[in-house]
Order: sequence, then structure tokens, then C-alpha cells
Amino acid sequence: MAKNPVKITETVLRDGHQSLVATRMRIEDMLPQLEALDKIGYNALEAWGGATFDTCLRFLDEDPWERLDTLKANLKTPIQMLLRGQNLLGYNHYSNDVVEKFVQKASAHGIGVFRIFDALNDVRNLKVAINAALACPEKPHVQGCLVYTISPVHTNEKFVELAKELEEMGCHSVCIKDMSGLLEPYVAYDLVKKLKEALKIPVELHTHCTSGFGHATYLKAVEAGVDIIDCALAPFSSDTSQPCTETMVAALEGEERDTGLDRQAMTPISKHFLGVKKRIIDEFKLKGYFDINPNVLDFQIPGGMLSNLANQLKEAGMEDKYQDLLDEMPRVRKDVGYPPLVTPSSQIVGTMATFNVMSGERYKMVPKEFKDLARGKFGRTPVPVEKEFLTKTLGIPEDEIIEDCSIEDAKGMTFEQFKEEMKQKGYLNPSDEDVLSYALFPQVAEEFFKKHFKQITAYVK
Ligand code: CO
Repeated sequence: MAKNPVKITETVLRDGHQSLVATRMRIEDMLPQLEALDKIGYNALEAWGGATFDTCLRFLDEDPWERLDTLKANLKTPIQMLLRGQNLLGYNHYSNDVVEKFVQKASAHGIGVFRIFDALNDVRNLKVAINAALACPEKPHVQGCLVYTISPVHTNEKFVELAKELEEMGCHSVCIKDMSGLLEPYVAYDLVKKLKEALKIPVELHTHCTSGFGHATYLKAVEAGVDIIDCALAPFSSDTSQPCTETMVAALEGEERDTGLDRQAMTPISKHFLGVKKRIIDEFKLKGYFDINPNVLDFQIPGGMLSNLANQLKEAGMEDKYQDLLDEMPRVRKDVGYPPLVTPSSQIVGTMATFNVMSGERYKMVPKEFKDLARGKFGRTPVPVEKEFLTKTLGIPEDEIIEDCSIEDAKGMTFEQFKEEMKQKGYLNPSDEDVLSYALFPQVAEEFFKKHFKQITAYVK
């Protein structure tokens, strides 16, 4: 056994299928291999959060809370979830009590690792979720994220400062969240070295192979002392997903930082998931593969979104606009102060770029969410957005420009108000979990409740 083995967090149950097959994996696809996955000795199994919650309700006819219960009943390995700070798993900012309630419930249902990030790296948006997770009686591991991006204003030194802030806030570890695979191997080496020198808590690295750097970036990060890397089993690895688990285990075998994990034990699990992947691609008529593209360094679209975008354009018969869209993304991003592109900023910038390309005139039609991002509703952008762009180009009145997003959060609907709204719609005694599903995705949750009214005391209509 190596003295300082690299730990692996397995993402096949969350990011792997979110990145490659639009998050369409069902609990039935997972169940047959949970026992085997549990025996591998992973640091954690990422299996909840991100887009899984929405997809469960919207496309898979599954209650995400029940999925979590099933996972918990079958796993001893800590279950990791990805949480978008004040956004939770939705696309808006929620009031503090909704955030707290959600974190408490997720912990009670079995989340062992909370990976928490904010799209703008604005720590004010992380505070409530981090504090709520730290206060949970189940004592989950709480991890804060550096959402990695490149721009004229982002440097490794700045990321180290942010990491120190997260450590001071009480996080048990930090994760470099490189959702678009922008982190180059030698930059990773430098960043991990600096983080390891500056921090007492472990450093984890999460990347995607979108640009083709993935495995090389992990190797350099391992050399620099990274504690944990996120990998996906072969069928759900590479392309826009994580580097491959088996490959990384093999690459480190017999070396100083040997993971000690049994590669042979992974073969039957991967075989099962290869079948799952093929079935999902057929069932949902997905493209199913993505070519690595070093130009991601310019257009910066996270893995999951790239697969959605490709499928959407295909449906609209507008495949020929794909390159125009990729070119417009960095221009829109600059206009709005270089936000890292990750949910929800990636969707917001992506939609704006799509509108610009399709209408042939920039900012002719501007979605509300884009105005909100520009005027500061989601927090501070890395570079302040130019006033003239806000008022003249987007037509935002000066008194609607927001300085402190936490004041905005306080104006959101409270948990009790969501519950009351459900009652008025005829759901007489909704569970807390149902209220949270409803708070995050009102229409989608209602459609789901109509089909599964066993979960609510009464559905009148
Ligand atoms: Co990811």
C-alpha cells in the first residue's frame, strides 16, 4: 500500500451520465451494481444533485428523494451531492430558510458529502448552504468549490485566496471544479502546489475531458499532491465527462501514489454500465458521443450543457449554427463581466448567445435571467458590468442595479409560503420533501404529483 494513495470519487452515478447522456440514468440502472461499487473503496460516490433532481421529476417519473433513500439503503460509501449554493438545484436564488431546509433534508436522507459551489464564486452565496450543512446532526462532509475558469482576471493566486476563505468558513475540503475541462496540466500542477501550501484541508480535483487534457491534468495534479480526483468508470468517462477510473488506477499502479483500488473488480461494473449507456442513447435518441475539442478553451461550455445544446440544435434543425453559437459565447461572456460558465450562468449566457445568433441582431431580445445576471441579482460578477451596457444596451433602469445579492435572497418566498401555495392548490398535507421539490421546480413537480398522488394526503381536482 502506497504511503499517500490518491483517493478517487466515482461519478458514474451523477456527472458521468449528466455529461454524456443528458442525465437520463434511472435508479433501476444503478441498483444491480451498487453492492459492487460499494466494495471498491471509493472516497465517495457522487450520485445526487446537479441535474439529477430536475431530470428525475421531469423525464424519468422518479421521486428524487426516494432515489436518495434507495441509494442510502444500498451504500456504505459516502454519497456525494452537487449543490449550487443559494440556487440549490434550481435556477433561481432561494430564501435562506428554503436553503437550510433543503440541506437538512438532504443530509437526513443520506447525503454524506455536500459539494457546494456558486457560479460566480461569490462566497455570500455559499454561506447559508455551508453553515446549514456544517450544522446537520448527521455530520456530513462539507466541501467548498473553486469554480475554475480562465479570463483576463482569473489567476491561480486569486483561486488560492478563495480557497482560504472557504477553509475559514469551516469547509472540510476544497474542490477545484473544472466543469469545462479548461485546466491545463501544468497550470493544474501550479494551482495544486499553491493550494497544498496554503491550506490544511484536503484538495480535490474535478475535471472533464472536453478539451482533451483530463488524464494528463490529473497526473500532474497527483504529482503536485492532490488528495482526491473525480473519475468515471470507462463507459461514462472521457469526451465531455470525467477521466476514466480504470485508466487512472492503472496509470498509478505500482507508483508512489498507487490508489490501491482493484481494477479487475471494476470490469463487470463497467460492462453493466456500457449496456445502460447504449440503452439510454436508444431510448432517448441521443447523439451519445462528443468529439474532444480544444477550442473549448475559447467557448467554455460545461460538459452537460454541450450535450444538451448539441441535441437541441439537432432537434431544431439548426446544426449549421453550431459554430456561430460557439463564437458568440465568449463575446457575451465578456459583456457580462467574465462569469465562470456553469449552471445557471452557462444556461443564461448560452441562451443569450443563442438569441443573438438566431435573430441576427445582438441583444435585440434579452431574457429576464440575462438581465438579472447582468444587474447583480446572482451576485458579484468577476468584472463589474459596464453601466452603459446595462442601461443602454439592456435597458435596465439604474435603480434596478443590485449591489448586495443577499438582500435580494431575503425577498424570496419562504418555505412556509411555498407550503401554503401548495395547500391552496389542493395538496392538503404535503411532506417537507414535496414542498422542496415544488419550491425548486413548481410546474414539473406538480405534473409529477398529479401522477403520484399517493405521496400527498389529498389531491383535489
Ligand atoms: Co462536472
